[in-house]
Amino acid sequence: MTERPVVGIFGAGKVGTALARLLEASGYDVLITGSPRQKALDLLVAVVAPGARVATPDELVAEADVIIVAVPFGKAATVPWELFDDRIVVDAMNYWPPVDGHLPMIDADERSTSEINAARNPRARVVKSLNHLGYHEMEDDSMDAGSPLRRALAVVGDDEDARNVIARIIDDIGFDAVDGGPLANGRALEPGNPAFGRELSASELVALLAPVAHLAA
Ligand SMILES: NC(=O)c1ccc[n+]([C@@H]2O[C@H](COP(=O)([O-])OP(=O)(O)OC[C@H]3O[C@@H](n4cnc5c(N)ncnc54)[C@H](OP(=O)(O)O)[C@@H]3O)[C@@H](O)[C@H]2O)c1
Repeated sequence: MTERPVVGIFGAGKVGTALARLLEASGYDVLITGSPRQKALDLLVAVVAPGARVATPDELVAEADVIIVAVPFGKAATVPWELFDDRIVVDAMNYWPPVDGHLPMIDADERSTSEINAARNPRARVVKSLNHLGYHEMEDDSMDAGSPLRRALAVVGDDEDARNVIARIIDDIGFDAVDGGPLANGRALEPGNPAFGRELSASELVALLAPVAHLAA
């Protein structure tokens, strides 16, 4: 994939629209699909993420090279994972009990929540990223390459090519991408873990991911 990939986003909420704005500003072609409950999505997107194209789930999957899932974790099953064979899919979700409620099966599951989501379609090339910074920081903390205070974001996943594609996007939208290795390492990026929500440089983020990589090995 040498040209800029077309990016499709599931979820036209706080994260989905912030990412759509950042991607549009960085020259990406963006498709976005919202909840079936959302009325007047064209109007919403025209106002909060101008330039992004509203699409049905089928249209999005047909056109997007990279799919970002940014819906509430508790609604992940409503996303059509069965259509994601061989597709690069970014899981930007977090299990967040204040929103999702306490889910006993998730509480008891030692896997990263992205491993749980990846199991919804083992043929999808799932990458975890973008989940560990707040939507309100996505634009404020975006900086040009080489800026001394540039914040780092991790990219973890079992498919190295997919990680590289997402790392390029992360860099384009204003963050230093840190390759965090396999998807299991994503636990360090989740709520309650050291890298979640913290403003970290690339070297600081690498240092936090290293112990988890050891555990996952
Ligand atoms: N808020 C943050 O700062 C932040 C940062 C990083 C990651 N995250 C994670 O990112 C995800 C989204 O967070 P958010 O704050 O953007 O939530 P949000 O503002 O509630 O937006 C999520 C949107 O996704 C919609 N949706 C639900 N099922 C869908 C489907 N199948 N297809 C398309 N859209 C669907 C929801 O509609 P309904 O209202 O109808 O469900 C809602 O409009 C969550 O997993 C969250 O934990 C959040």
